[in-house]
Order: sequence, then C-alpha cells, then structure tokens
Amino acid sequence: MIIAIDGPAAAGKGTLARRLAQHLGYDFLDTGSLYRGVGLQVLRAGGDPADPKAAKAAAERLDLKLLADPDLRDEAAANAASLVAAQPAVRAALLDFQRNFARKPPGGRGAVLDGRDVGTVVCPEAEVKLFITASSEARALRRLRELQEAGQAAIWDAVLQDMRDRDARDSRRDVAPLKPAADAVVIDTTSLSPDQVFEAALAIVDAKR
Ligand code: DC
Repeated sequence: MIIAIDGPAAAGKGTLARRLAQHLGYDFLDTGSLYRGVGLQVLRAGGDPADPKAAKAAAERLDLKLLADPDLRDEAAANAASLVAAQPAVRAALLDFQRNFARKPPGGRGAVLDGRDVGTVVCPEAEVKLFITASSEARALRRLRELQEAGQAAIWDAVLQDMRDRDARDSRRDVAPLKPAADAVVIDTTSLSPDQVFEAALAIVDAKR
C-alpha cells in the first residue's frame, strides 16, 4: 500500500506521516528533504537556487549525505528548496527516486510519502491520499515555536510572511503546484491535536486495508 500525504508547510503532515509509517511498519520518505538537499547543495557551491542550470546540476547529482545535514531544516534551506522546486528539470530529476521508493519500499510492506505533489504527480495510484492543511497563522505559530525551541531567533511577522510567500510560490507554480488530488481526503488541523489527526488518518487507512 502507498499512502500519499500532501499539504503546505507546517500543517502537521511530517508528524502524521512518520507516525503512520511507524504504526503500520511501512517505510517513510520525506520528499521535501530531497528539494531541501538540492537547495542546500546549490547554496554550498556558492550558486543561486533560482538559477536553472545550477539547480538542475545539483538535482542530477544530489549528494544523499546532505539529507542528514542539520542545516537541511533551517529557513535558508527551506527557501532555497522552494526556489529549486519550481523548476521542471529539478522535479523531473527527482521523480524516479520517489517512485521507486514508493513502489519498492526497502522494507517491502508499504510506503508513506509526504510532500506537495505525491498524490497528484509522484503516486497518482496511491491507495490512500490525504491533504493535511491548517490556517497560515496556525502554521506560522507552529514554525515559530519550532525555531524558538531550536534556539534560533525568530520574529512572528517575518515567519508569517515567509510562510505566505512560500505557500504562494508552491501553489502558483506551473509544474506540480500544491493542490489536493481530486480523490484526496482533506484534514484541516488548525484546531486538532496531533493525536486527533493521527486517529482520523488511521481510520481512513484502515477503511482501505
Ligand atoms: O515540506 P518542506 O518544507 O520540507 O518542503 C520544502 C520545499 O520543497 C517546499 O517549498 C515545497 C517543496 N516541495 C515540493 O515542491 N514538492 C514536494 N513533493 C515536496 C516539497
């Protein structure tokens, strides 16, 4: 079984995807980390993530060690990821890796992938498609707390604006824009706890198993 979980940043999809994978004994792939890895690789080489040549070269030769780099989670990598993710050549270069993982997960049981276009482009055949969303204020507040807990200086206005800019870029781009698949179940997590989101998602998965 393939479970596709899409949605905007900080809506709770990563937490849900990891928990579902652990509960079901499935393998988990955070597809955003691939775009972050490409963005970070371009930044480290002194390049511009908005430059199609630099971004394509990095995507075609992505150093998988970067996926475990602590800098992958910071705002610079997130912004670079959003810029490289808007480029068709980058998306094409990362597609096979994601599809192979979903169709032949290392553990052989099933796969949970989270991202922006898993249900629409990467795995349109996924048996379960969830679109996890929340208001931009709720998501900015979660991100603010994460940054503060990580000891990083963060300003509310800047975090909210950054969230809105990234949403706009991810939703309005021409290739694989962020949108729910026609057959996705939408879960709005604005006023739900992580446990409530997990229970709702598990009920949907169990109904398909
Ligand atoms: O989920 P995240 O914050 O790690 O994603 C980083 C960026 O990568 C985000 O701007 C959207 C992009 N992305 C994408 O375009 N497609 C995916 N399947 C996953 C992430």
